Amino acid sequence: MRVLLGSIICFLTTVNARTAIMPPPWADPSTNPCATQPRGWQLLYWPADGKCYKIFQIGDPCPETMELGPAAGSGTIAECRCPPGTAQSPRDALCHQIFTKASCSKGQFFAPVADVSNKSSTKQRWGVCREPEICNEQGEIYWPRDGKCYPKLSRGPCPRGELLVVGEDGLATCSCSMSDELGRYHWVGNGGGCHEHYTKGPCSEPGELFLPGGTCGCNPQLPHYHEPSGMCYQLGGVGPCPQGHHFMVTMDVRSSQEDIVRAKCVCKSGHVLYKDGFCYRLHTRGPCENGYMLINSTTCIPVPCKRGRLYFPQEKTCYKIGTKGPCPNGQIVLYDYNVRPSLDGISYNGVCGCTNIMRDAGKCLKNESDDCESTPGMVRIKKTCYKLYTQGPCPAGEWLVAQRTPRNSQLWRESRPKARCECRPGYKRIQSSSETLEELDSNNLISLNLRCQPPTVRLAKFLNDNIKSIMI
Ligand SMILES: *[C@@H]1O[C@H](CO)[C@@H](O)[C@H](O)[C@H]1NC(C)=O
Ligand SMILES: *[C@@H]1O[C@H](CO)[C@@H](O)[C@H](O)[C@H]1NC(C)=O
Ligand SMILES: *[C@@H]1O[C@H](CO)[C@@H](O)[C@H](O)[C@H]1NC(C)=O
Repeated sequence: MRVLLGSIICFLTTVNARTAIMPPPWADPSTNPCATQPRGWQLLYWPADGKCYKIFQIGDPCPETMELGPAAGSGTIAECRCPPGTAQSPRDALCHQIFTKASCSKGQFFAPVADVSNKSSTKQRWGVCREPEICNEQGEIYWPRDGKCYPKLSRGPCPRGELLVVGEDGLATCSCSMSDELGRYHWVGNGGGCHEHYTKGPCSEPGELFLPGGTCGCNPQLPHYHEPSGMCYQLGGVGPCPQGHHFMVTMDVRSSQEDIVRAKCVCKSGHVLYKDGFCYRLHTRGPCENGYMLINSTTCIPVPCKRGRLYFPQEKTCYKIGTKGPCPNGQIVLYDYNVRPSLDGISYNGVCGCTNIMRDAGKCLKNESDDCESTPGMVRIKKTCYKLYTQGPCPAGEWLVAQRTPRNSQLWRESRPKARCECRPGYKRIQSSSETLEELDSNNLISLNLRCQPPTVRLAKFLNDNIKSIMI
């Protein structure tokens, strides 16, 4: 009933936007014979048997799993269709929830088939069984709803308090549990739920993060530690930083304390540090006067572009949006999609991008070398770009850390790898598999293939052990 009223109210609202308040078409007795009956506005006429049926009712007179609704267009003729969020399977003719296993084989999901016909005709929605796509990065899971890959045991697309895991049906699912692999992410305190480690998670104290071991805390040995405030902040977020910065561990490592890696406030990608201490996005107004834009960390110039044109710094000139401009063949001048006008203001920055035709033909080559290593907190390993301090290509229990360059060793610099896998703070390295089997909790089979053991006691104790690492 609530759904029904909702639909009708929604309908009235949409209609209302264009005209005056108008009842839905199926409430008109001249086109819907059922409309004269008591509560007739809920009834639709079904020509096959001449009877009236409740709108949006599933099943009879419709086939199993289908609902009766007003046909789009006229709105007065009833038709049977799959309820929202479902599609019809050609195998059993039933409507199944899309993006679930439905009646597919294990490991497959039921995917909607793109509607190739015109929108105005209400064609039945069809679905087919598909294999999830293979994710590029180890430890990632494919989420069919948005077609993206997310790291396993990250929040990804999940609601707060749930993490992404592979469910019993072999498909990605959002879940939380006190047992199994999720147990380590479970918060026993107020509000419960499962949370990613080293995020704010359920922690209510300022400057505390949710840590392995299921506790909230902060420790000076974590890269998340901010010395001036004595607090810990999530990496990649605003943290304690001024405007235009984010709190990151960067690769430009010339630390005075070689053993302690700490995040710091750095300008976000595409931003420069201005003398007022804030970072501003290049080619926006930033700190400049009206009608000017920022071109480097010191200089504002009058906006050189006319309306509908975007600036290309290399060429020092503007090109019309949608034209070839200075772009390689097949690419056109586009607005920089990294810019968020609400945050950055209007951007005059132009980028080259592919036309849809090129993209559909798979001919859209991205210039990879540009994006990755110029972004703070990112590192390229074997042609893939990874975020530091995430699992990246590392085994479970480890994360990718910046390889510090010791002082006075410039000669080494080029040949050393830029990052390595290391046990996460609080995780303990197992020396060799045969000797350590007894150490492991026999119930905890998941951990058997871990090289870094999750903490069973408080983080602080483990942080005092010198965590050894391997090179990758
Ligand atoms: C879609 O509609 C247009 C005109 O309204 C028509 O020319 C075209 O053939 C239709 N396409 C399909 C797939 O029905
Ligand atoms: C900024 O740009 C101006 C004008 O092109 C130039 O004179 C100045 O040296 C640049 N400053 C820096 C820090 O690059
Ligand atoms: C990528 O960028 C580099 C340097 O900016 C350039 O030399 C190279 O040709 C570019 N490659 C592509 C495919 O655009």
